[in-house]
Amino acid sequence: MPTLAHSMTGLTRTEKTVPVSLGDRSYNVLIGPGLLQETGRLIATRIGKGKCGIVTDENVANFHLATLEASLKAENRHAGSIVLPAGEQTKCFAQLTKLSEGLLEMGLERGDFVVAFGGGVIGDLAGFAAGILRRGIRFVQIPTSLLAQVDSSVGGKTGINTPQGKNLIGVFHQPSLVIADTDVLATLPAREMRAGYAEVVKYGLLGDAPFFDWLESQWNGVFGNSGPDLTRAIETSVKAKAAIIARDEFETGDRALLNLGHTFGHALEAWTGYSSRLLHGEGVAIGMAQAFRFSESEGLCPPGTAKRVEVHLAAVGLPTKLSDIPGDKADADTLLRLMGQDKKVRDGKLTFILVRDIGQAYVARDVDPAKIRAFLDREIAG
Ligand code: GLY
Repeated sequence: MPTLAHSMTGLTRTEKTVPVSLGDRSYNVLIGPGLLQETGRLIATRIGKGKCGIVTDENVANFHLATLEASLKAENRHAGSIVLPAGEQTKCFAQLTKLSEGLLEMGLERGDFVVAFGGGVIGDLAGFAAGILRRGIRFVQIPTSLLAQVDSSVGGKTGINTPQGKNLIGVFHQPSLVIADTDVLATLPAREMRAGYAEVVKYGLLGDAPFFDWLESQWNGVFGNSGPDLTRAIETSVKAKAAIIARDEFETGDRALLNLGHTFGHALEAWTGYSSRLLHGEGVAIGMAQAFRFSESEGLCPPGTAKRVEVHLAAVGLPTKLSDIPGDKADADTLLRLMGQDKKVRDGKLTFILVRDIGQAYVARDVDPAKIRAFLDREIAG
């Protein structure tokens, strides 16, 4: 995609633009360093006029809210900011009510924007509020975690959690623009950065073997604070996601590929109580390693493939096995029951994303639960 050069305050800067092609709901994802302070101008030139109500969390507000507000105020676009508690528990009905009423009190109308400024929790919650406010107003995603920049800010999935499960209430509502400033990742805790990197690896594993090869040799550069390797990793990931979304926006087919590692991973997250014992990306890392181990044990992919995946994930400091999770040992019945809560379950049948090789994932419907049960027993035995 085109590289745009700007001359700002005497400096020349580059950003990458990845289009997400969805007819009249198409939008661009802008990726690169130094974009946050340009937000007011970027919104004005790319999607037009309108007041912006910012939604963020306490952590992001401490580091970056003043920069974003200054940029929006310079363009007369700041309607107000709502700062919510950080953490997964914020994605709930009570906060949705508070947020929706706060946005209405700001006087946001149909032509205005909600700006979701944070990680996946803020993106999902603020996107949902935008999707139902006045029956849907536009929103801009400014993702501040690697996970949100490469995955959750793109594709229009929004929602909240309930006692019955994660993301079971929500709407598809596409953003009008995504601004991924790689500089903001410098304030991300190292563990969060690694967890987001698991989703980057996912794109190589599911459909792009050369990208996985590149990550194996360049991962140090990707972790090297806002350099070109980081921008390239995010751009490649977003392009891969955009291509899948363009052919299956509402997840009736191929979009499920984006869930490589997630059926196993979600069960592990639920089992560990969505706590700091296991971050989402860490669950995905173990889940991807499990998808490869299971596929290999079924003779679906060449011997040694799972080992190669494990070696790379472990090299960056990600977990790959159940025994890497601190605390109690898992039990197979519980994990199997939790997998049954997965949104991909149809008529009680489990869907897994399995692999024929690195870069060759496919959707396997109706996987025999007895085989999964036997596999989990082997995994738990170590
Ligand atoms: N995170 C998976 C998807 O957007 O479909």
